[in-house]
Amino acid sequence: MAVLLGLLTAALAGLALLALLLAPPFLWDDLMAFVSMARSALRCRRRFARRPPETLLDVFLLHARRRPQQPLLRFQDELYTYEDVDLRSNRAAWVLQRHLRLSPGVTVAVFLPNSPTYVWTWLALAKLGCVMACVNTNARGQALRHALEAAGATLLLTSHELQGAVEEVLPGLHSSGVRVFYLSPSSPTSGVPALLPDIEAAPADPVPAQYRAGTTATSKAMYIYTSGTTGLPKAAVVTELKLMMAASLARLCGLRRDDIVYTTLPLYHSAGLLVGIGGCLDVGATCVLRSKFSASQFWADCRKYNITVIQYVGELMRYLCNTPPRPDDREHGVRLALGNGMKAEVWKEFLRRFGPVAIWEFYGATEGNAGFINYTGKVGAVGRSNVFLKPFAPFELIKYDVAADEPVRDERGLCIPVGPGETGLLVVKITQNTPFHGYAGDAAKTEKKVLRDVLAKGDAFFNSGDLLMMDRQRFLYFQDRVGDTFRWKGENVATTEVEATLAAVGFIQEVNVYGVAVPGCEGRCGMAAVRLKDGATFDGDTLFAFTQDTLPTYAAPRFIRVQDALEITGTFKQCKSNLVREGFDPQLVQDPLFFRDNSQRSYVPLTQATFDAIQAMRLSL
Ligand SMILES: *[C@@H]1O[C@H](CO)[C@@H](O)[C@H](O)[C@H]1NC(C)=O
Ligand SMILES: *[C@@H]1O[C@H](CO)[C@@H](O)[C@H](O)[C@H]1NC(C)=O
Repeated sequence: MAVLLGLLTAALAGLALLALLLAPPFLWDDLMAFVSMARSALRCRRRFARRPPETLLDVFLLHARRRPQQPLLRFQDELYTYEDVDLRSNRAAWVLQRHLRLSPGVTVAVFLPNSPTYVWTWLALAKLGCVMACVNTNARGQALRHALEAAGATLLLTSHELQGAVEEVLPGLHSSGVRVFYLSPSSPTSGVPALLPDIEAAPADPVPAQYRAGTTATSKAMYIYTSGTTGLPKAAVVTELKLMMAASLARLCGLRRDDIVYTTLPLYHSAGLLVGIGGCLDVGATCVLRSKFSASQFWADCRKYNITVIQYVGELMRYLCNTPPRPDDREHGVRLALGNGMKAEVWKEFLRRFGPVAIWEFYGATEGNAGFINYTGKVGAVGRSNVFLKPFAPFELIKYDVAADEPVRDERGLCIPVGPGETGLLVVKITQNTPFHGYAGDAAKTEKKVLRDVLAKGDAFFNSGDLLMMDRQRFLYFQDRVGDTFRWKGENVATTEVEATLAAVGFIQEVNVYGVAVPGCEGRCGMAAVRLKDGATFDGDTLFAFTQDTLPTYAAPRFIRVQDALEITGTFKQCKSNLVREGFDPQLVQDPLFFRDNSQRSYVPLTQATFDAIQAMRLSL
């Protein structure tokens, strides 16, 4: 009997081992990721199931009660504890409520640079049950007015740092009934009162909870503007539940209460405000804010403030890697980096220079209805198609016609999923679990992001606008944004790919690749705007030889424009539209222009004669 039992046990153990060996790779990782994500999502939903529901504001208030002296914000030499921010937001809430007669549900636009004011204003508005519209501080003129209109905001809170931008649109705002206030000690502009003196004199006790008694999981918490590839920014709706989920992303990546997070990203975007500040409010951690990213100050700040967690976008990491090496490069306490858009080559260089930092790359859009987190050790992947998660967030990669700029459809009118290794457009099914809340005041733009009849007649998917590729092991790789590719000589050129290649050229500091129209040619011809390294000179022969070796002929830029500085947006994304418009006309472009001359095997200065020959189609490209 005992022998039989022994044999049976051995057989079972052998079978278990066999099952483990035969299990698809990464099954364990997938399961663990599923468990922690599901736990996080349930936690968020449970909070809203309570009566009254528990919002991110309530979580903050809990921390403020339990550990009032815990630092929440550091900014320059200022320090604000949880209690400080709580009391300050109470004072602001009283002033906003009494002077401005704010009622619950009203939308208030904030047009503020990164500072503690942003955070206590946010919490004050949340305490009043108001919706905050986070206007991009780079918005000017028409774009600024449009931002307010889209969100339906009739009140603008700003600060004296943005005086010029505010005064420019003030007559228009006043005539359309928008009231404007500075959250500053005094006002430099007539007709725009400063509220800070009133706020400082206001009572610090909490405003009645009844103001936000109507808040539920689906209430609008804020609007965050997303910079579309074309047209004016769109105001994406962020509900209370979405806010909570975004804030819990940091915890999911390992953020702890004793962490000190360094945020240099603008607070008008979701990464800085929801993941960074929101993440700290969720776990009770400290955030060090900086008004603007500075590559030269980055590590000095990390040492000064004992930073343990940093937030990035890919370009920011590239800038850090481009700084001259220093002996103290690895002297810092940063253990975790959260962000998105990092290229594999930058990631390798970053770790080589700055030491072991756990990098959590995530993929997602502010208005998107699902995202991915890189939870395995796969370099370059944005995440995985997780068999356990997929039923909850069904997504597809579908065939996309880059030239026509639309999905390919079969004879039944349905979209066609791509196979492993093929690039396709990411679309995520719109369901109760993965809702798409759209853009404020713009049904047409909302509808444009919804793709219908994808797998079956009548279904609806969120169109991410991103091209991804999934390999056989189901790792997902970001390939391009739709629109960041152009066609030349019948081939698709991915601008990001050419950029990554050219970035390796010795004298090039930064590069921005785009396509320009050429008379008599299909598609667009490759052009690169480059910034040279300090003290370096442009070397046409070297660049020709390098591109010859590293890029397909169709992908090597025909034109080069040397700029002193590349134009970037507030989130370090490069601006292409102006460059595309100006093209390679030497009369229009004041910067030095170069032309790829195959006969001379070099990039030579672009003369007026060459330009004229191309325009007249005498010189074929
Ligand atoms: C950083 O840590 C050191 C050593 O623990 C401490 O002396 C210093 O005060 C800390 N700095 C800040 C800004 O908290
Ligand atoms: C994915 O995560 C691992 C660690 O979990 C990291 O080493 C790798 O760099 C990440 N990939 C990207 C693109 O960040």
